[in-house]
Amino acid sequence: MIDLHGHYLPGVDDGAADWERSLAMLRHAENDGISAVVATPHVFSRMGTVREIDALRGCWAKWEAALAGSGVSLRVLRGAEVFFTTDLISLLKDNRDLLTINNGSYFLLEYPPDYIYAHSREFIYQVLTEGFIPIISHAERNAEVQRSPAVLRELVKAGALCQLNAGSLRGDFGHAARECAHELVHANLVHVIASDAHDMEGRRPELSYVPALLPQVGMEKIDLYLDGIPAAIIADEGIPDIGEPVQPRAARSIFDLFRKHRS
Ligand SMILES: [Fe+2]
Repeated sequence: MIDLHGHYLPGVDDGAADWERSLAMLRHAENDGISAVVATPHVFSRMGTVREIDALRGCWAKWEAALAGSGVSLRVLRGAEVFFTTDLISLLKDNRDLLTINNGSYFLLEYPPDYIYAHSREFIYQVLTEGFIPIISHAERNAEVQRSPAVLRELVKAGALCQLNAGSLRGDFGHAARECAHELVHANLVHVIASDAHDMEGRRPELSYVPALLPQVGMEKIDLYLDGIPAAIIADEGIPDIGEPVQPRAARSIFDLFRKHRS
């Protein structure tokens, strides 16, 4: 398995606080059967502590040097969780080595938790035209996507990919995120499932529990989510075809609607 989204890089955001904790997270991931992780610190969001993006280069160099002698054998690759900004395209062009996954074309795009910006479809077209491919991080946690998965469907049809947090599938982020996560899988709108690990307490780097949470999904598809598609992304290749999105389910009953409003 490959973990495409995790806050392993120490001391830069609300993820691993220091070197020891980052090491513990990597060892835990390794024990869980993860063979490669992409460390994706928050960039441009209030969760990041490194305000100057160039400062990240120093953090990476120090961590990579320390990792070389640590005995950790899983692959650790560079990435970022890039918060939406209006000048994102020029920032991506100037800092590909820091903002994209493994210095390639794909990058994790984070939206605010409450909404998807207007004109996002046009923005995605622009980004694609410039040679970058956005992967919308934990789309199931976005309130607008929870209200209407069709919003995400439009972005995926435009060419964006969708990453789901494994923890959302078991309810780590509440009822609405869990319902939405399963709905997005059903609607064939998911490309990657990753841990979005932050620590060794509540948000640990684990993926091995995912198949048990999706008994209705075949192992072939789950392998794509956890390995095949992330591997193609890291290699900067086209991703395997998962087929067309299907129409999201409507709310199943008045009771479901009521529960959605309460969560
Ligand atoms: Fe994250």
